[in-house]
Formats: sequence, structure tokens, C-alpha cells
Amino acid sequence: SNLDTLYRQVIMDHYKNPRNRGEFDGDAVTVNMNNPTCGDRIQLQLLIEDGKVKDAKFEGEGCSISLASASMMTQAVKGLETEEAVAMADIFSNMMLGNEYDEERFDLGDIEALQGVTKFPARIKCATLAWKAMEKGIEDNK
Ligand code: FES
Ligand code: FES
Repeated sequence: SNLDTLYRQVIMDHYKNPRNRGEFDGDAVTVNMNNPTCGDRIQLQLLIEDGKVKDAKFEGEGCSISLASASMMTQAVKGLETEEAVAMADIFSNMMLGNEYDEERFDLGDIEALQGVTKFPARIKCATLAWKAMEKGIEDNK
């Protein structure tokens, strides 16, 4: 469908032009996480200040879905309170599981393109990898 085509284009755009790819020079909360089903891994770094995610960057190797998702996630959480970032991860997880989620709470923007992944259950772990890393980073920082 046209929607699938649009979703694919948004994913490919984030894969080819990743936002926030790289590493911080100074101290940052750093999480390394791998997708056990394929062995791909990402490194996520968060700058957390005054209870907010001030900035986020990622590095790693993975498929287009995992890297596009990391790009979208880092873009989406910048500026959010840490609890809000965790709430967004929860919404994303429900979206991936095909559960109901609160569509009004956040402007998900590009992230909605990952809904297409729910048709390919084997790829859901690719899409959720960066989000799990983000939740762990916030948890570790407490
Ligand atoms: Fe199999 Fe990503 S883990 S496609
Ligand atoms: Fe490994 Fe997608 S196939 S993260």
C-alpha cells in the first residue's frame, strides 16, 4: 500500500542519514546492548541533566530497522524528562506488540513508520533494541 511505501521511505531515510550517530567526548551514560537473535549491537549514550535527557547519540552495527529506530529514538527523547522518555519507550513497546497505546500523549512523528515492522515478528527485536538500551541507561543513572 501507499502507507507501507511511505513507512519504508521514512525508515530508509533514517538508515541512510542517521540522526545523532556518534559518541560524546566527555562523560555520558553509556549502554551497550546486543540483539541476541542476530548478534548486532548498539552503543547508546545519554547526557542526563536535571532529570532530563539533554542529548543522545548512538553507534553500532545492525540492520536498517535497528539503526533507523535508534536514529528516531535519539531524536525523540532529546529534551524529555527521563520519566517521559521511559513512558515513550513503553508506548513504543506496545506499538510493536500490536497492543493499544496512547496515540495522543506524544507526537511520535517518524516513529510511526516502524508500525510496519509489526508485520514481521522476527524484526521486532531489531526495532526495540535502541529503546531497551535507552530504558536501561535511565535506570542505571538513578
Ligand atoms: Fe532477525 Fe533482526 S534479529 S531480522
Ligand atoms: Fe540484527 Fe536487525 S538483524 S538488529
